[in-house]
Parts: sequence; C-alpha cells; structure tokens
Amino acid sequence: MKRILTIVGARPQFIKAAAISHAIRDMRDEVKEDILHTGQHYDDAMSAQFFRELDIPQPRYNLGVGSGSHGAQTALMLKGIEDVLQKEHYDGVLVYGDTNSTLAGALAAVKLHVPVFHVEAGLRSYNREMPEEVNRVLTDHVSSLLFAPTDTAVQNLRKEGFDERGIVFSGDVMLDNVRHYAPHQNTTEKGERPCILATVHRDFNTDHPERLKNILTALCDVAEKHNCDVLFPVHPRTRKRLESMDDAPISGRIKMMAPLSYLETLAAVQRSVLVMTDSGGLQKEAFFCGRCCVVLRPETEWTEIVDCGAALLADADAEKIVDAADKLWDNIPCQPTQFGDGRAAVKIVKNITSFLLYK
Ligand code: UD1
Repeated sequence: MKRILTIVGARPQFIKAAAISHAIRDMRDEVKEDILHTGQHYDDAMSAQFFRELDIPQPRYNLGVGSGSHGAQTALMLKGIEDVLQKEHYDGVLVYGDTNSTLAGALAAVKLHVPVFHVEAGLRSYNREMPEEVNRVLTDHVSSLLFAPTDTAVQNLRKEGFDERGIVFSGDVMLDNVRHYAPHQNTTEKGERPCILATVHRDFNTDHPERLKNILTALCDVAEKHNCDVLFPVHPRTRKRLESMDDAPISGRIKMMAPLSYLETLAAVQRSVLVMTDSGGLQKEAFFCGRCCVVLRPETEWTEIVDCGAALLADADAEKIVDAADKLWDNIPCQPTQFGDGRAAVKIVKNITSFLLYK
C-alpha cells in the first residue's frame, strides 16, 4: 500500500483535489491519501464549503497559515509541511496548480527526497510578474511526474527541456468535474433578465484602484447596453479594496454577493450569457459549459480558448471590455476538444500508482 500526501490551500485546489480524491478512493487497495490543508484560504465560503459540497475527505493536517506576504506565507507553509513529512512516511506528494501552497508543498517534499506529482503542469503565461507564474515554473522543475492538461502545456514543457519520461498528457481534471457536476440544462427561467457572471481577484486588478475602477465601469456599461444583470461574487481581497474606495462605480444592475460554492458557480455560469473574469479556472468552466468569456487580463495560460474564438483578452481596459462583450454576446463557442476526455483524474492516479510501484 502506497501513501501519498495531497497538499491544498486555496479554493481552486479544493475543486481539483475533489476529482482526484474520488479516483483514489476507487483504487484504495493500492494507494491511500492523506490531505494537508495549509490554511491559505480559511473563510468558510473560500474553504470548508468546498469540502462539504464536493465530499472531499477532511484534511488530516491543517497548518492554519492564513494570509500574509508571499515570503512570510510560503515560509510558514514550508516549515509546517516539512514537519509533517519528517514525522510520517509518504511515498509521494501531490500538488495542484500554481499557488503559494503548491510551491511550498513541492519544495518541502523535494528537499526530503519525496517525489512530487504536479497536476496542471506546463501552464505558462510568460509573465514573471505574476506570483503564479513563478510558482508553476519552480514547481514543474522539482516534480517527478508532470500532469499536463493540454497539448500546449506538453509543448511548453518540451521547450524547457524536461525529461520526456516525466511528462504525462492527462487532460484537465476540471473537465472531469464539469462533466460530473454540471446539470445538463440551461438554467435560465423564461422571462428572467439575462445575466453575466463576473469575478475579479488577481492582485494586479484589485491592488491598482484605476484598474479595478475601469473594470467596474465596463461592467456597468455592458449591463446597461445589453439590459442585463451582472452576478458579481466578490473575493475577500476585492471586497476589502472596494470598501476602502470612495468612488467605486456602482449600478443597481451589479449584484454583489459572497463567494459562491462550486455548484453555485456552475449554475451561475449556465444561467449566464457571458462570463467576464481574471480567474483561470472560471475561463475553463465557462468554456466547458458552452459560454464565451471576456478575460480581464493582458494574457492567459489557456491560449486554446482564445485561439478558438471563445474568449477575448481585454485586460482592465474599459473600452476593450465593452467591445469584447459586444463581440461575444450570444456567441456559442466550439466544443472543448483540447482538454482530454473528462477522465483525467483516473489517468493521473493510475500513473502515480505505476510510478510508485515500479520506479
Ligand atoms: C490565491 C492564489 C491564486 C488563486 C487564488 C484563488 C497565490 C499566490 N495566489 O490568490 O493563484 O487564483 O488564490 O482564489 O497563492 N482572504 C480572506 N479570506 C480567505 C482568503 C483570503 O479574507 O479565506 C483575503 C486576505 O485579505 C488575503 C487576500 O484575500 O490577504 C489574498 O489571499 P491570498 O491567499 O494571499 O491570495 P489570493 O488572492 O486568494
């Protein structure tokens, strides 16, 4: 029996870990998983509600690290994870995506010679000012198995000279989740006003008042122009910034609300005509649910979605955002073919098990 430690800490990781945890449970004779939660996200709406809703096993460890500067937060995680890895024997460590929790888990493990498995490897924005880009590049470079969700991710890894034996095209576990959880009908009620789902949480948008203001101005304009509502679940960081701003553009059409659960998010995507976001995960969820997306960033790691015309990059430029919304309004995007077959989790767990048994 092989034992792996899954390290999570932030909202998108709980969602990805759910798919893998369910696959691990189906292979419980060969592999057993413990979960370590760094505590990077800690509000109920950002953390515990995902464990309840997606039936993720309770973390065996919660480091309770909380918020802080990148250095301080990552340092506390490194120390806490190292303590756990020294106390218990694990055959491998599983990390997801590109957050500070990902980097801390990968670094603590590799220094203790525990193999690292990276889910969502090979993604690149080629913008090193994003903390996520630094986290994902470094994590890839210390991982034994690199689970690439798309062919572009595989090519990125090849370009960087990774050992071919470590690269696995797995497909995207978020597609597994959408296929499993998304109700198959359009949930817009007849007579209901059309709506847009919008989210903003990236530091380069929230921590620059001008950018945040431009985005909100554009949301108000689009809502007015298309006679629709904007569902706007607000990340705690964004809420704090908006509360301290005395000239934030407002409109009765912008419906601010607490962060949604995973199932509520999928339902909101399906209710919406269009999604506008700076989140990587939500760009994909929109695409998988057949919705177009205005990306509130200058670039994206998910280039396939832009290349097939289902998303437009509009950055935080009010004019570009309104223009992109006009172009994508009511557009039905192509079917996702580049993200695997919706069975990525099983493939990932099988590869990990073979690696541990036969390496
Ligand atoms: C982190 C990830 C980002 C991911 C995002 C998903 C890093 C560098 N960034 O960004 O890649 O897209 O998670 O949401 O790891 N806060 C609360 N309650 C919480 C969590 C956060 O109030 O439960 C507030 C705090 O003021 C905190 C701020 O949000 O300082 C930012 O949280 P943090 O975990 O540093 O990064 P995210 O912006 O959530």
